[in-house]
Amino acid sequence: MGYVLAKMEEDATPPHGHITSLAVLRTYRKCGIATQLMKQAHARMQEAFGSHYCSLHVRYTNRAAFHLYSETLGYKIADIEKGYYADGEDAYSMKCTFDVPAAKSSSSGKKKKIVSADASAAAKKKLAQDAALAGAVNDLVNAAADLMLETPPTSGGSGSSDLTTTAAGGEEDDAPQATS
Ligand SMILES: CC(C)(COP(=O)(O)OP(=O)(O)OC[C@H]1O[C@@H](n2cnc3c(N)ncnc32)[C@H](O)[C@@H]1OP(=O)(O)O)[C@@H](O)C(=O)NCCC(=O)NCCS
Repeated sequence: MGYVLAKMEEDATPPHGHITSLAVLRTYRKCGIATQLMKQAHARMQEAFGSHYCSLHVRYTNRAAFHLYSETLGYKIADIEKGYYADGEDAYSMKCTFDVPAAKSSSSGKKKKIVSADASAAAKKKLAQDAALAGAVNDLVNAAADLMLETPPTSGGSGSSDLTTTAAGGEEDDAPQATS
């Protein structure tokens, strides 16, 4: 009934995550699903990758998503990117800084030395990250299932049951042209 697509900016310093896309089926909206998906993504970014913050883009007119990010999750506007979307609409570039950077941060010199000194450590780290991601997917499914049990679906939307809607509705997914 919903998904979040998140990634790590691998070459960035400090390491940080980015939300590429987020959507919830119309009939399941306003039940807290997007909030849970985002919180789980944030937690995994910190635990598994030592992320210091998470960034994303949101349409200037997408009030639902803007409320979720700014009011519910504490994202701040970092910039306004003119004509970011294919139809020319501007985007807010937003950031959510995590309170406590995880101890596993790859930005520390000590961590870098250990990784470069032992090639197998990199492979082990990759395996651990894959396992963490698999755990994240599991957690997301469980969290969504819990929400479904607690909260019956409402007719919160206005028609289609598609995950995404048109740009005219101001609720389209993150920009397909986003590359970073
Ligand atoms: C944006 C979207 C993901 C929100 O999903 P959701 O599951 O309904 O969000 P939640 O139930 O977790 O609600 C989070 C907060 O946003 C608020 N909210 C949700 N929809 C809203 C709306 N249409 N207008 C105003 N506020 C809204 C909720 O009231 C809640 O606020 P609160 O924490 O102060 O109580 C969903 O509307 C959607 O899929 N939209 C289409 C795709 C999209 O725009 N994705 C974002 C791209 S950047």
